Amino acid sequence: MRVALIGGTGMGDLLDGEFTEVATPFGSAFLIEQGDLYFLSRHGRGHKLPPHKINYRANIWALREVGVQAAIATFAVGSLRQSLPVGTLVVLDDFLDFTTARPKTFFDDKVQHTDMTQPYSHLVREELLAAGEDLGIMLEARGCYVCTDGPRYETLSEVRMFAALGGDVVGMTGVPEVVLAKEIGIEYGALAMVTNLGAGLSKEPLSHEEVARQVVEMQQTVQKLLQKTLEKLSSR
Ligand code: HPA
Repeated sequence: MRVALIGGTGMGDLLDGEFTEVATPFGSAFLIEQGDLYFLSRHGRGHKLPPHKINYRANIWALREVGVQAAIATFAVGSLRQSLPVGTLVVLDDFLDFTTARPKTFFDDKVQHTDMTQPYSHLVREELLAAGEDLGIMLEARGCYVCTDGPRYETLSEVRMFAALGGDVVGMTGVPEVVLAKEIGIEYGALAMVTNLGAGLSKEPLSHEEVARQVVEMQQTVQKLLQKTLEKLSSR
């Protein structure tokens, strides 16, 4: 299977190499290729794009263009529950979409509706969980990801509301990535790294520096897990 890793902050070291530009009907995306593995930097080269400016459609289209069949995406997220402390790794199984201001489909001019009963690939989820078991890395086997437009963090009431609605973690980049992958038939799984507690669950105000610091803290464990999962998926 040809596999891609879609990395957020701190995941760039997993594949070495030069970014190559892939032209798509939605603009360019930048991928590193290493044999049958591809690395896509979600925020662009040098992590410059904020969540609402990411070209999600170009990114996912480019993966299909180069023949990627399965993808593992990583996300830094805030926790909506005390039971999911900082450092928790969550294999997502559902999402709540609170984004409003970004293109979200490949089917703009065509009547086509995509089933979302199981938005995240069963296959990729299973392999992530199996890799965790092999390596003795604890994973939360399920979790519902709430996606906001950002770039601001949430208010106290939003954190309470998202949790009451069934959300487990919150981030700004998970949707429409998962939707687009589903629309064009890429097996797409996601690993969320809890970098902080949501507003009101922690005594400290939240900063991007805290998020970035925590990603670095979790980087080695996550890279081992991803490497193992990539091996499992590649050999399929
Ligand atoms: N909220 C939204 N996005 C995030 C958070 C958060 O608390 N942490 C990391 N990304």
